[in-house]
Amino acid sequence: MGLSMSMPCAGIMTSGWWDRDATGTATPLVVRQQGSPAFHVQALHLMAATCKSKPPRARSRPSSAAGPPTDAQGASLSSQLLESRAAMAIVEGWYPPTRENWETTVLTFQILYPALFISWYGMGKTSVRSAFNLPGRVAWVLMEMPGFTTVLYMMKTLPRMHGIDDLPWQNRVLAGLFVIHYIYRAVVFPLIQPSMSPIHVLVALMAAGFQVLNGVGIGAWLAAYGPVTAEAWAARSSVAQFCVGIAIFYVGLAANFFHDEELREIRRAEKRRRQRVLDRQGGAGGAASVEKHYQIPQAGLFKHVLYAHYLCEWVEWFGFLVAAGWGCVPAWTFLVNEVFAMLPRAVKGKKWYVEKFGEDKIRKRWAVLPGVV
Ligand SMILES: NC(=O)c1ccc[n+]([C@@H]2O[C@H](COP(=O)([O-])OP(=O)(O)OC[C@H]3O[C@@H](n4cnc5c(N)ncnc54)[C@H](OP(=O)(O)O)[C@@H]3O)[C@@H](O)[C@H]2O)c1
Repeated sequence: MGLSMSMPCAGIMTSGWWDRDATGTATPLVVRQQGSPAFHVQALHLMAATCKSKPPRARSRPSSAAGPPTDAQGASLSSQLLESRAAMAIVEGWYPPTRENWETTVLTFQILYPALFISWYGMGKTSVRSAFNLPGRVAWVLMEMPGFTTVLYMMKTLPRMHGIDDLPWQNRVLAGLFVIHYIYRAVVFPLIQPSMSPIHVLVALMAAGFQVLNGVGIGAWLAAYGPVTAEAWAARSSVAQFCVGIAIFYVGLAANFFHDEELREIRRAEKRRRQRVLDRQGGAGGAASVEKHYQIPQAGLFKHVLYAHYLCEWVEWFGFLVAAGWGCVPAWTFLVNEVFAMLPRAVKGKKWYVEKFGEDKIRKRWAVLPGVV
């Protein structure tokens, strides 16, 4: 390993640490650049990787053994990198995004969604009949899928585009947890719900937009624009903090599932009850649909909080933020936007419970945050 001094490359100056493998191929480890587009540096990574992958005999670049690449090689590989970016991109420059476009995406998500959620939307108990309603299960899958598929797409494309061979384990763990949560939320949840109310097409589109923006924000941070070395992680979130965050995440995930399950059980139990009545009457056919059958949930935190499942979901994403480190802007944005999305629903939902079941039965329960609302 050695330090290459300011190297003229395609009209820019770069300097940094270079590693050499057994065959003498130079690979940049840390590259500092002055006034250059990032892809010039990434081109050098790509070149080093390309040279490494060739058998030694096939390498026709004598300078690779003697030192860093030349101007012409850097320039040609810059254009190769651009071509490879274009080939991998679904929307060039945006999906996956360049760093600048990623920052714009995160900022847009920060501003747009809180503004949208202020005009509260109806869903579930508070949904209304409309010709534009979609079947609940179908809408739910379509609107929740883009989040984790976007994160997977970012993890697949961005590291390669940025010459990152091996992401730290923390990036993989966080991406894995995000995917686990959304496989439950987007795929398993709509399949196991005994019934789901129709969802208005505008609500579904808004939720899908939320998922795409959030997936780009978190996915690109994990794949390239957040910490991508062990040193960068050490500066953001120690292993102890990371583990505490993951533990909080799992507690939130399990508790969210538990409280979702309590709501499912209300309808499953009602279905069984109706079936028993039918059986006693000797009636043929299945029990009537339990769609829109509601009771006051009793298990776990529901005794104190009507939207305990929401609270637990916030705990989950708070854990994600703790693990990612307090400086992780996309994780902050996600958590804040979740609160903006769900808090008005919980407050309106509490009013709905009071109207349906009476003040006496609901009065002692909080909507979502014990002691606050
Ligand atoms: N909504 C959001 O903005 C949002 C955002 C992020 C995450 N999530 C998560 O997604 C999950 C579902 O959210 P959601 O907003 O759909 O929750 P929800 O309105 O409480 O509904 C959850 C499910 O339970 C049923 N249900 C609700 N209250 C019930 C009761 N008292 N008795 C019997 N069944 C009842 C609903 O049926 P109906 O559909 O027929 O009402 C629905 O199928 C939660 O775990 C939440 O944390 C939601």
